[in-house]
Amino acid sequence: MARLPAGVVVISARVDDGYRGLTASSLVSISLEPPMVLVGLEHESATRAAVVESKAFNVSVLTASQEFIADRLAGRAPAVDLKWQSIPHRLGANGIPLIEGSVAWLECRLVQVHPTGDHDVCVGEVEAAIAGSGDPLILWDRQFWTLR
Ligand SMILES: Cc1cc2nc3c(=O)[nH]c(=O)nc-3n(C[C@H](O)[C@H](O)[C@H](O)COP(=O)(O)O)c2cc1C
Repeated sequence: MARLPAGVVVISARVDDGYRGLTASSLVSISLEPPMVLVGLEHESATRAAVVESKAFNVSVLTASQEFIADRLAGRAPAVDLKWQSIPHRLGANGIPLIEGSVAWLECRLVQVHPTGDHDVCVGEVEAAIAGSGDPLILWDRQFWTLR
């Protein structure tokens, strides 16, 4: 799978005591009508727990210049909520963070969860889709790449 190029996104969620978020490369489009996406979230992830509890998540598609955010939200910060303190973000209509300056954003309602191996396949119905600008960050061969 390291040989399959993928985009890099942040999946964000909100629970009573704050925001959660992780870097993910498993986002896939699965339905156009209604618009739906799926993402695989590992069982141990705090973000997975928040997504399942709140039944909602947002997606920020990272730009090539947001590699530091991909690193930060992949577990290289000591505490869950500290992850958000230095990351510019705004809140979507659903109150869940969207990362400023990203390529695109989705606001999703969780409609299905399928436990699969050590991950849950989480299916979201897209309630809002917003286009940003810039070149995407690419994951390939376990490294980040840019298109140009
Ligand atoms: C490039 C990249 C892609 C990743 N893709 C996923 C993914 O699709 N699903 C997932 O659950 N974790 C993925 N991870 C790992 C999570 O980002 C990492 O485990 C994170 O620390 C979980 O944070 P949390 O426990 O606060 O939710 C990925 C990490 C990197 C660096």
